[in-house]
Order: sequence, then C-alpha cells, then structure tokens
Amino acid sequence: MRTEKKKTHFICQLCGYQSSKWMGKCPNCNEWNTLVEEEILSNATSRNTLTGIGGEGEVPQSVSEIETNEASRIKTGIGEFDRVLGGGIVFGSVILIGGDPGIGKSTLLLQALNKIASSDYKVLYISGEESIRQTKMRAERLSALSAQLFVLAENSLEKIIKEVHALKPKVIVIDSIQTMYTLELQSAPGSIGQVRESAARLIMLSKSNEISTFIIGHVTKEGAIAGPRVLEHMVDTVLYFEGDRGHPYRILRTVKNRFGSSNEIGVFEMKEFGLSEVFNPSEIFLNQRPIDVSGSVVVPCMEGSRPILVEIQALVSPTNLGIPRRTSIGVDHHRVSLLAAVLERQLDTHLYNKDIFLNVAGGVRVDEPAVDLGIVVAIASSVLNKPVDTKTVFFGEVGLTGEVRGVSQIEVRLKESSKLGFKSCILPEVNRERLHTDLPMELSGVSSVKEVLKFLS
Ligand code: TYD
Ligand code: MG
Repeated sequence: MRTEKKKTHFICQLCGYQSSKWMGKCPNCNEWNTLVEEEILSNATSRNTLTGIGGEGEVPQSVSEIETNEASRIKTGIGEFDRVLGGGIVFGSVILIGGDPGIGKSTLLLQALNKIASSDYKVLYISGEESIRQTKMRAERLSALSAQLFVLAENSLEKIIKEVHALKPKVIVIDSIQTMYTLELQSAPGSIGQVRESAARLIMLSKSNEISTFIIGHVTKEGAIAGPRVLEHMVDTVLYFEGDRGHPYRILRTVKNRFGSSNEIGVFEMKEFGLSEVFNPSEIFLNQRPIDVSGSVVVPCMEGSRPILVEIQALVSPTNLGIPRRTSIGVDHHRVSLLAAVLERQLDTHLYNKDIFLNVAGGVRVDEPAVDLGIVVAIASSVLNKPVDTKTVFFGEVGLTGEVRGVSQIEVRLKESSKLGFKSCILPEVNRERLHTDLPMELSGVSSVKEVLKFLS
C-alpha cells in the first residue's frame, strides 16, 4: 500500500521566509543555517485566521448598525499598564508582549492578572515554563492570590483550548508562546511553524469568544529564538518590555496598537516583591546627575503623550585607533555620527582624531529628533571642557547645515522642566516666537548650532 507523502517546506527560523527547497543561507535575512523543514498543513489556521475571526456564516452589515463594545475595556488598575494599552484591555483583543528572558514579563502579567481578578473577572494564567507550584510561589511573593485567578501548567494547545472553553475566563495569559505546540504539526515547540500556528489558534479562540489574550514571547537581542516578530502583524497590540538588567527600571513600550496611541510608555521598578509603578520617571532618571561637570545635558523628551527628562552624557577623548570610534547607548549611533559632523563644522577643533562616547543615563532609549540639540551640546561641552548651567534644559532638531529646527509639544516639555526645578530653556527660535507661557522660566530661542555654543560658559 502506498502511503501519501507529507508535503513539507523550509522556513527560516529567524525571519519566517519560506522556500520549497533547502538553502544554506536565507535569501531574505542573509543568516546561515536557519532554514528548517516543516510540514505544510492543508488546513492551517494561520492561513485562515483573517477569514475565520467572525465565525461561520458572516454576512456584510451596514457599518452604522454594527454594535460595538469598544467603550468597554477592562482596567487593571495599574496606571502605567493601562496607559500603554490605550486605557485598559479591550475585550477580545490579542496582545503580544515581547522582551528578553528574565526582564520581568511573567511577573508583570501575573500582577496585572491578579488586579483584574480582584475586580471579579475570572482570569487564567497558562504557564508552559513553570509548574503550578512554582507559579504559586511567585504569586505568593507578589501577593497575587485572588480567588478568581486560575493557574494552568500546560503546553498543548488542544488541551488549553479545551480548558478555556470549560472555565470561560475573561482574560488569559500564555507564558510563553515558544513553549506551546499543536499536535497538528510535527515540528518542535518554538519553531516558527509552531509559534505561528499556535498564535493563530489563540487569536481565533480569543476573537470568537471575546476573551482578551496576552501572548508572552521571548526575544533575544540577536533575534535568535524563533519568533514573536513574525506574530506582530497578526495581533492587535504589540508591547515590548525592555530595560537594562543592571538597572531596576523597566519600560513597557507600545510598538503597535489597534486601539490606542502607539508610542506610549509605562515605567516600572523591579523590587523584591514584584514590579511597582514609577509615577515620576524624570526625577528618577535625573537623581544621580553630576553637577557642574562637562558633557552632561538635560533634555525634555516626549515619550508618547508624556514628557520625560533625561540626562545625555558625552565623553570625547583622543583616539588611539586609525578610525575614531562613535559609540552610543540609548540613542541611534548614526544620528550621533551625523551630529558630530555637523558640530565639527561649527567648532574650531577637529573631531576626526577623537573618540565620542554617548550615553543616556538610567538605561532609557530616546529616538525623537528633539534630543539632537542636547546631543550636540553634550559633545561640545565635553570637547571644550565647559559645563553647561545645571538649571538649563535644551531641545530642538538639528539639520545638516547646523540649523536648529522646531519641534512639537513645547508647553508640556517646559512644564515638566519647570516642575523639576529647571530655570531656563534653550529651544528653537521658531518655537519660542509662537509661545505664550507664564511659567517661571527664562526662554532663549536659537536658530543655529553656532548660537547654542554661546551658552557654554
Ligand atoms: P520574570 O518575570 O521571570 O522574567 P521573564 O518572564 O521576562 O523571563 O522575572 C525574572 C527576574 O525578576 C528575576 O531575575 C528575578 C526578578 N524578580 C524580582 O526582582 N522580584 C520579584 O518579585 C520577582 C517575582 C522577580
Ligand atoms: Mg517568564
């Protein structure tokens, strides 16, 4: 008797590229040895997710007649968490939380679930990594012991779906997607095929039963584990939990949100008994700032709708190598090289024989153009060995010709700076002209990098 041959294809475990034949190097992401043979499912859910979310027999309806429950969100009561989600968890939404192993994802979600459970919603925490006893020990440490919080240690998706139907929780957490598998695929848990298929099934489960689902995914810096990145387009919301292991601060960042703003952040501190909210991040990021030292500048940045003051530190030293180094932590290094070149034009000294190190203190990452001026001033301050006034903040975008361009949300930045005791601000002239404020701050408008350098005493 002839058995039917199973159809297979090769999937890159890093980027999800598919090929009908094996190749040593993935033509999409250029990595070696990442293509793995996986079985093709004739009825793969992942391919049918979009058609299946409304259930069988959907017919077109007038948009004016469709009832929504968009207003109904579940608030966790953890302010930093709710803000990042756009004001709470939307019913039936699927949220992916990515982050390095050990950063605190399980801790955060167990705490959040417990809060939801204590407002009498039934919730289920599914761990594929820890036994229920281990989870209980963690829950005890976090005082997350609500009666409505249920725990399940399981890896099989089929069993999970069965238990979810039986328990009927409002919110579930899958910790983590890399440990889940469906019996329909032969490949190992954690492979791209399993991750994608498991997520697709969970999305179906969530949409058709109005269950909000959190999917935890580990991502390493190198993207070495198959993963969460390929799920980003399938889910409603993508959050990243980041931070430096050496620092206690953690930032929860929205990368995508179908139900709210996509660049909000929430700040947490990892303590002995779990994560606690940080209500005043600026104070914390600035509290160890050196005073009257060259190379340190404070910039009021916007993270979503929220202002955060960060300290930018620069160290410029003679290079020992043929090519000068431009090293930066917390800001894009291309931006730093570009700004160093702009600054070199305006200064009488050369930078081609100097290494430049730039750091945003406290392990924060900033990527808005308004920090440009702060970076330029920090580098100039270090080169000239002249400290900037400790009660002054700087912000503005810098162009290639050394012009200082306007940025947005000026009032909020100034208000936060004033609240933290800063007395003056150097900002783009175009912004200053249009500004009406009665804050007790001295404002100086500048339109070029040359003008800013005058403020280095
Ligand atoms: P965890 O939530 O297990 O990380 P992830 O799920 O992202 O892999 O967090 C693990 C780290 O957090 C571990 O290094 C110990 C630390 N931690 C605390 O400092 N305090 C606590 O109360 C808990 C539960 C963990
Ligand atoms: Mg974990």
